[in-house]
Amino acid sequence: MEKVVNTNSSHLVLWLVIIIQFSLLFSSAFSAEISPRNDPHVEGSQVLLQRNKGSVLIDNGLVEVTIEDPSGYLVGIKYKTMSNVFETKYTNGNKGYWDLVWDNDAVDKLVTESMEIITQTDELVEVSFKKTWKPTPYYHNTVPLNIDKRYIVRRDVPGLYMYSILERQADFPDAHMYQIRIAFKPNKDKFSFMVVSDVKQGVMPTAEDRNPGRCQVLAFKEAVLLTHPTDPRFRGQVDDKYQYSEESKDNRLHGWISDTDAVGFWVITPSFEFRTGGPHKQELTSHVGPVSLSMFTSGHYAGDDMDSFYQKGKPWKKVFGPVFIYLNSASPDPGHGYRNTLWNDAKRQLSEEIKSWPYNFVASEDFPHSEQRGEVNGQLLVQDRYMDNKLIQAKSAYVGLAAPGNVGSWQTEGKGYQFWTQTDDTGMFSIKNIRPGIYHLYAWVYGFIGDYKLDHTIIIQPGNKLQLGKLIYDPPRNGPTLWEIGIPDRTAAEFFIPEPNPSFVNAIVKDNADRFRQYGLWDRYSDIYGQGDVVYNVGVSNYSKDWFFAHVCRKVGYNGDRRTTWQIRHNLQEVKEAGTYTLQLALAAATYGEVQVRINDPTAVRPHFTTSRIGFDNSVARHGIHGLYRLYSINVPGNIFRRGENTIFLKQTRCQGTFQSVMYDYIRLEGPAV
Ligand SMILES: *[C@@H]1O[C@H](CO)[C@@H](O)[C@H](O)[C@H]1NC(C)=O
Repeated sequence: MEKVVNTNSSHLVLWLVIIIQFSLLFSSAFSAEISPRNDPHVEGSQVLLQRNKGSVLIDNGLVEVTIEDPSGYLVGIKYKTMSNVFETKYTNGNKGYWDLVWDNDAVDKLVTESMEIITQTDELVEVSFKKTWKPTPYYHNTVPLNIDKRYIVRRDVPGLYMYSILERQADFPDAHMYQIRIAFKPNKDKFSFMVVSDVKQGVMPTAEDRNPGRCQVLAFKEAVLLTHPTDPRFRGQVDDKYQYSEESKDNRLHGWISDTDAVGFWVITPSFEFRTGGPHKQELTSHVGPVSLSMFTSGHYAGDDMDSFYQKGKPWKKVFGPVFIYLNSASPDPGHGYRNTLWNDAKRQLSEEIKSWPYNFVASEDFPHSEQRGEVNGQLLVQDRYMDNKLIQAKSAYVGLAAPGNVGSWQTEGKGYQFWTQTDDTGMFSIKNIRPGIYHLYAWVYGFIGDYKLDHTIIIQPGNKLQLGKLIYDPPRNGPTLWEIGIPDRTAAEFFIPEPNPSFVNAIVKDNADRFRQYGLWDRYSDIYGQGDVVYNVGVSNYSKDWFFAHVCRKVGYNGDRRTTWQIRHNLQEVKEAGTYTLQLALAAATYGEVQVRINDPTAVRPHFTTSRIGFDNSVARHGIHGLYRLYSINVPGNIFRRGENTIFLKQTRCQGTFQSVMYDYIRLEGPAV
């Protein structure tokens, strides 16, 4: 079908009628709804839908969006001077698409089979691309999932809303679904400046720079050293997409700027209710390609502990999104000032989107609007009599609702919705816009170990406003603090983070707070601790200088033994031999690691305690500062200690590979209860 440029002429309309009739006559599958095209880039234009053979075009005068029909691939967005913001050299299935990694690492691009117009008014067009899965040989190689991919274009809005409703019926076979996302591939020749945060931004290497001959693959395929980049400025730089990861709570806006057009392409995620693993789950953002991702679920920084197994007999349905693809433009200037203009405008747009969440224009009945959602209010207080006789207001604590489960289970919960907020200075919180459902309420408090869980179930019904009153968190504590190392904050960020090896620097990671994202810090341990492992002297050492951020293996071991044993030396003026001491050992990450604890006898055959082999979060290799949180409260009978100097030995016993490790969050020795 030809595009119609101007149909104000009745003559043309007549022709259209004839064409439509003709089409219907010869192809029942081919329906055409044609409306006049807007003049380009005119605000105030109505939203128009044009259905062609093999594609659907939605035009609001600001953007012209093309979606392949019936696959549901997003193949084009025309904006300002750009005929397509996506990379035109890529195939239609490789420009803007959902994909899902399932059993045996198979990738399913969620190709759909039919298209339906959901809403078509002057104000808004919503279209749906569907596939209904059936247990027949035809669908054998596709993920057992009913798919409904939605696109929305609104009047006066330069962008595109996308969401999906994924559903498993009770009779669908078992499946692992490890990762669900939308991927975008902006135009390579144009988008070269990446922005992930105020400080993490810059001109990026090209995809070609990561090809053989131009780079050297480092310890794993994602990390490369650019040896012959097209732009010599990148020579000697490291690139790895995991260096641009963000925690879910911060992963709301990222994208690319075209310097040739002074145009920005942004992925905006106003709410992370549909992401999994809670506010601190880390995810990819944008990276070299150019690529921008909207990650919904994955095992990144969590691994196999993340719940991703979907069982036959358990129906499941979830709405992912909407996320918003926002486009903006500025007047180019030689000083690149437009980059800031575009980024600041994108941040402004993000706050607009957050304000209008949950979007009231979304048609799916599976996406409840504000009045169909509920609210939970309360105040969180901490009771720790060894710190204060009074209740302590839980300042800036994270409080959230997630699927019912054990204490702390939210961080590996992978199938439901989660709703999080932070308390104010007095511990007051209000969680708004909660979808109807059954939840547990969880929390953790900066400065206190462990996890809070309210011991009754919370049922949210439309319009509910629950007042929970005062909730009291009683963190693990058996006695007074004798000494402590670090801050209970679920990360290793306060410990010593070395400078990267000068040969492996990524200049994009320039913010001091992000310095753990540099490549190869794990090998710096061997450089610094060449003569022996960490020895921490309580009262003398300073954890920001003397406690390495990750308990890693040696690059080359003494006599081939790469395992490392850290010591905490501390003085006890008196020992209550009949009393029980407690070693609170909080871990921030673990990857096939095992910590064995020995006290005063480093060669004891049987350790006093072992974590056993734990963790798959791969946080060291992925340049994270934490993965999953674990707390061990280890009882130590007083008669193990002696008056004077005592040493606790922490041995990481698993060193078959480079990345077997743990990260500590915080360690505390408590005396017997008083
Ligand atoms: C520990 O070291 C850090 C970093 O050098 C420093 O800022 C801090 O003041 C030190 N703390 C103490 C108690 O000396």
